[in-house]
Amino acid sequence: MSLSRLALPILRGFPAETAHTLTLAALKTGLALPDLDPASWNTSLRLPRSGLTLANPIGLAAGFDKNAEVAANLARFGFGWLECGTVTPRPQKGNPKPRLFRLKQDRAVINRLGFNNAGLSVFLDNLRRQKHHLAIPVGANVGANKDSVDFISDYETGLTAALPLADYLTLNISSPNTPGLRGLQADSRLDTLLARCHAAWAATGIVKPVFLKVAPDLSTQDVDQIALSLIPHAGWLSGLIVSNTTVTRPIGLAAAGRAESGGLSGAPLMTLSTRILRLFAEALEGRFDLVGCGGISSGRDAYAKIRAGASAVQLYTALAYQGPDLVATLNSDLAMLLRADGFTSLEEAVGSDLR
Ligand SMILES: Cc1cc2nc3c(=O)[nH]c(=O)nc-3n(C[C@H](O)[C@H](O)[C@H](O)COP(=O)(O)O)c2cc1C
Repeated sequence: MSLSRLALPILRGFPAETAHTLTLAALKTGLALPDLDPASWNTSLRLPRSGLTLANPIGLAAGFDKNAEVAANLARFGFGWLECGTVTPRPQKGNPKPRLFRLKQDRAVINRLGFNNAGLSVFLDNLRRQKHHLAIPVGANVGANKDSVDFISDYETGLTAALPLADYLTLNISSPNTPGLRGLQADSRLDTLLARCHAAWAATGIVKPVFLKVAPDLSTQDVDQIALSLIPHAGWLSGLIVSNTTVTRPIGLAAAGRAESGGLSGAPLMTLSTRILRLFAEALEGRFDLVGCGGISSGRDAYAKIRAGASAVQLYTALAYQGPDLVATLNSDLAMLLRADGFTSLEEAVGSDLR
């Protein structure tokens, strides 16, 4: 058992956000961290549309390292890739505390943080400092300030500033905690966002992948509508991260915290987010790389996302419950599941439930 796993019961004694702050402080010291080789599990892959090469498909989802403070030390847990942010152009405090809640019995979390972050300039300084220690791809997830008069211009600003430094960029239009932000997923607003971000991307002259991160709270018609808007952008937009947290409360939640408002993540999100992932895979027919995110807590969950059409996966909440040893467990279990089904590479398994 690793030292970080031993620290879990102690951290659970603190309110959720304090535990997270303590975890970041411990990660900053770099003491007693493992140094796992991300290529240990023989599940390397190349994302076909974005061209990103990953030593393994397990990524850290956005929100854990909002200011890119500890990316280099996080990489030591064996992740194949990391996503930092969400960063907004200007620093902002986020919503009043408490705003992060553990739903222990449900292995879930509700957050209404509201993009608390130190702003783009601090984010970029932090990333610059760590970049040469990082052997795995690191993405910058960008969003909009709550009080911005033009959300889309915040995405243009984030994209233009972060693209030179990050290995890829994510446009996060799916946080439920910034009023109006999810409205960017609706047809004419999405078309405007994509057109303006395409122009900003082209103006950088830097050909690096851009992903769009969507919500799980979409109907079949919403998915089809978003897919229609995306298809003309297949030339520059690489992929979709499916999904962010849900504002729904799936039946069966047991913890008292379920009544808190905000986005729900963790185990109860797995079925919903995988269903939406599969709908996107069917609608987009391989034109974009899909990243499966939401509720992954085992190798079997990661494998289900891959079979539903994801080329790679990301997770966050299960780490808080199971500790960072989970990264190695997911990778070795995934390698075993692929072998058991006769797949010789991860790419072969992508979308195998759809065929
Ligand atoms: C505390 C917390 C903060 C988050 N902050 C962000 C964020 O800033 N940007 C973002 O795109 N997603 C954010 N997310 C969503 C995660 O990246 C992920 O999409 C979601 O939690 C589903 O994955 P999971 O069930 O493995 O946690 C956050 C999630 C949690 C739990």
